[in-house]
Amino acid sequence: GDPQVPAQRTFDLVIAANRLPVDAVTGADGKITWRRSPGGLVTAMESVMHGREGAWVGWAGEPGKAPRAFTQNSMHLRPVRLDQDDVVDYYEGQSNDCLWPIYHDAIVPAKFRRRWRTAYERVNTRFAEQVAKVAAPGATVWVHDYQLQLVPALLRKLRSDVRIGWFNHIPFPPVELFMQMPGREGILEGLLGADFLGFQRKPDAANFLRACRGLLDVTVRGDVVHLPDGRSVRASAVPISVDYNGLRELAGDPAVQQRAAEIREQLGDPKHILLGVDRLDYTKGLRHRLKAYGELLQSGDLDPSETVFVQVATPSRERLAAYRELRGQVELEVGRINGEHSPIGSTALTYLHRSFPRTEMVALFAAADVLIVTPLRDGMNLVAKEYVACHADDGAIVLSEFTGAADELSRAYLCNPHDIDKLKQTILQAMHDPPGEHRRRMRSMRRTVMTNDVQHWAEDFLTNLQAAPHKPKGHR
Ligand code: ADP
Ligand code: F6P
Repeated sequence: GDPQVPAQRTFDLVIAANRLPVDAVTGADGKITWRRSPGGLVTAMESVMHGREGAWVGWAGEPGKAPRAFTQNSMHLRPVRLDQDDVVDYYEGQSNDCLWPIYHDAIVPAKFRRRWRTAYERVNTRFAEQVAKVAAPGATVWVHDYQLQLVPALLRKLRSDVRIGWFNHIPFPPVELFMQMPGREGILEGLLGADFLGFQRKPDAANFLRACRGLLDVTVRGDVVHLPDGRSVRASAVPISVDYNGLRELAGDPAVQQRAAEIREQLGDPKHILLGVDRLDYTKGLRHRLKAYGELLQSGDLDPSETVFVQVATPSRERLAAYRELRGQVELEVGRINGEHSPIGSTALTYLHRSFPRTEMVALFAAADVLIVTPLRDGMNLVAKEYVACHADDGAIVLSEFTGAADELSRAYLCNPHDIDKLKQTILQAMHDPPGEHRRRMRSMRRTVMTNDVQHWAEDFLTNLQAAPHKPKGHR
């Protein structure tokens, strides 16, 4: 903690996200240590906030009393309290067992519980109140993601002076799916409390606009929602990205290069290294990927003495049944593949169920010949863009069409992960295309990620937010 920061200090820029960029881990002695939180939101916003002054309001990752506010780099971190029932009902329940599946094409069935919705409202209110306390007069408040969709309207009621933007890191569902949600109008009204709404892709913004048109008494013209009170809110696509320069620099660091060479060696200097990096989440298409790989080994198209597959699967939401089941299925399949195909003394599939430091991730990206990204639905997928930034002219990406990244990285080897035969062919093609073809594709993708990096994204979002009308037409 930093005793220099008075509790009443306020900030011109306030970030509100379900998680802080770091998670508290309370040891047996009651002492708190901090470690980086999982997920793409934190990766992106950590880079954006680097060198910017501002406050970040979010949960510290453990139930119970919130740790004291403290400063990290130039950022003021304000933990929000989540009690055990908030964690169960707001975070695990409403956010991750209802909204998450609905917003990801109902890959697993969504559950609806009235108690969860109440908790969602309760916790969103708490977030809005905390933000209201820490925002300076006329501040810019940037609210993130599906866990906090009611915050914009709740905050506007408390602080009509602040400018409110919201960005959705995940897809926004087609109205036919969105409509299933009890209290669906409340979500739209919550979001429309913002001055500007950002989405990953145009179809996400279009889905939101369609939901407004169909379910609310509003007029939608182009990408603007006109409200009965005279306010108007624009909803448009602002695709998120990665810290291209930072990653490039890390990937070029001799120590990281050395580590990449060492990883190759430790894997037995195979001809091909395939890599997957995902949170262990059913949206990521891990089972489809393993099925394809297992079949390629079975048919002899891949030789395990020449090819190894490394799958990093970050632990995620481990108390939810859907995630526990997935973990069981993945680990069974990993065991099966290795049991049937691993040569003595090496493994066909190296499975790593843990988090790694940033440098180790970059070394892994650099070491891999082909990155395999097969989500059934993904808002963006930063991993694909990180891989591009970590490679010069070599390497290849097999990329699901159902990721936001596929819109921009059209020179990846695009695939439909549901079509296992095609997926297998695409993996083989990505592995065996000549270096010239890899170079052309990687160069094109690199230009895209280089020009549209994470700073560009943040500036784009904030410029859109500043340009928003804020007050109803005719008001001053
Ligand atoms: P999501 O937000 O759904 O988790 P993204 O691909 O957009 O997916 O972002 C994941 C982020 O987490 C990336 O920055 C990636 O490098 C990082 N990451 C994933 N797995 C690990 C891991 N095991 N250790 C450290 N960082 C990881
Ligand atoms: O970007 C999607 C996202 O759900 C973030 O909102 C979240 O922080 C991250 O993935 C990781 O999930 P969780 O916070 O539930 O561990």
